[in-house]
Amino acid sequence: MDIKQYLNNRRQEVEQALDELLPATKGPLAGHVEAMRYSLLAGGKRIRPILCLAAAEALPADSRPLLPVAAALECIHTYSLIHDDLPAMDDDDLRRGMPTCHKKFGEAAAILAGDGLLSFAFELLSRPLAGGNISAQEQLRLVHNLATAVGPAGMVGGQVLDIQAEGRGEQNGLNQLRLIHRCKTGALITAAVQSGAIGGGADGRQYEALTRYGEQIGLAFQIIDDLLNVTGDAATLGKAAGSDTARGKATYPALLGLDETRRQADEAVSAAIAALEIFDQHAEPLRELARYIATRKN
Ligand code: IPE
Ligand code: IPE
Ligand code: MG
Ligand code: MG
Repeated sequence: MDIKQYLNNRRQEVEQALDELLPATKGPLAGHVEAMRYSLLAGGKRIRPILCLAAAEALPADSRPLLPVAAALECIHTYSLIHDDLPAMDDDDLRRGMPTCHKKFGEAAAILAGDGLLSFAFELLSRPLAGGNISAQEQLRLVHNLATAVGPAGMVGGQVLDIQAEGRGEQNGLNQLRLIHRCKTGALITAAVQSGAIGGGADGRQYEALTRYGEQIGLAFQIIDDLLNVTGDAATLGKAAGSDTARGKATYPALLGLDETRRQADEAVSAAIAALEIFDQHAEPLRELARYIATRKN
């Protein structure tokens, strides 16, 4: 299969859903909505929503009823980027090739745009899903799982650990580093895959396999993000390069060097693909996505 074509098609579907579902920029809150739309529609690979759709397809199930869930995943991810870039966090000026939300709209507006996107995501997730076979109970399971993944036990907890680890260099052991990566990035990616599994009606065995896949690509994704911060350039990345070293961030290259970092990413990708052995050719997009994550340039 042509993964580039697949990603393009899926990306367009997700972007259309986002545009349709998001509030319009009019009325007294036009500025707030504009800030949310600015960061959300600024580009971005849309990996988390695509993983959700591809997981449903792998079962195989129709992924179209899950588009609002996919859109919600991207809203949550974009909120996390807006807050991650704030001066009190990573203090970055460039994101998705454009000035960061706080650079463009100011800090208060950026904090609120993030808050707005997070809350709006859960508004979307708790609407009845049209056209799918998911029961209200299964939808509640999906929402509960995702809320857990992005809260203190997952993404937010990982961000706390990431900030705490800043400047501590090699005192951060590999176990701590892996925990940070699993939480700050892996938890949402795993939950994206699990959302597609639940929404597509996966049985217990399929759900377990997809969870293992999600955990491994989630870890690989952040290891590669660390690597690209060292080897990439801002024009290709659409965000600052070299910033992790400058801020003394806890990263794989800082602890292990570039070669071992690459090896650990490849190992996680192989484990992800191995986890899919119970699936047939309908899981080919997921396998290709894992390879893409290992070789991506931005
Ligand atoms: C960047 O995520 C932040 C991490 C969690 C590593 P992406 O690399 O998916 O960023 P976009 O959405 O494509 O901009
Ligand atoms: C991003 O981690 C994790 C979240 C936003 C939850 P990083 O801070 O390492 O990602 P980039 O490099 O800024 O995209
Ligand atoms: Mg960060
Ligand atoms: Mg950052």
